[in-house]
Amino acid sequence: MDAVESTLVLIKPDAVARKICGEIISRFERRGLTLTAMKLLRITPEIAAKHYEEHREKPFYPELLEFITSGPVVAMVLTGPEAIKIVRTMMGPTNPVNAPPGTIRGDYATIMTNNIVHGSDSETSAKREINIYFTEQELVQ
Ligand code: PPS
Repeated sequence: MDAVESTLVLIKPDAVARKICGEIISRFERRGLTLTAMKLLRITPEIAAKHYEEHREKPFYPELLEFITSGPVVAMVLTGPEAIKIVRTMMGPTNPVNAPPGTIRGDYATIMTNNIVHGSDSETSAKREINIYFTEQELVQ
């Protein structure tokens, strides 16, 4: 039996602006993952800095922060067997140029910054990131 996991997914400002949130959520639900928390929010520079702290020395960091704070995002927790890996596979590679059709980035994105979705990359990241966006009370059991 595969371990049941929870993962943090962000629908990024580009996807919210393009009004494709429903399509993206629908893909995760159809796959069998369960929504266990969800909200629309504007990420502050402080939250963004906390979320992406491991990348603060990277050359793309300023651009990443500017983009993620540029408009509302949908933050959600998805739960299910091997949810972390399943979400990452469904998203496709970080750079949409390398993302095959059928993946979210492969179907909706063409450039690196505007890559539609974020998904936690490990159990440790998932726990840390879920705590950034949600309180214990906001997580539905
Ligand atoms: S790394 O260097 O491999 O650890 O980085 P990576 O995991 O590929 O990406 C970390 C997050 O930074 C975003 N990213 C970028 N944004 C803008 N421009 C460039 N060049 C760029 N490269 C990476 C990438 O989308 C990741 O954000 P999330 O939210 O996790 O998708």
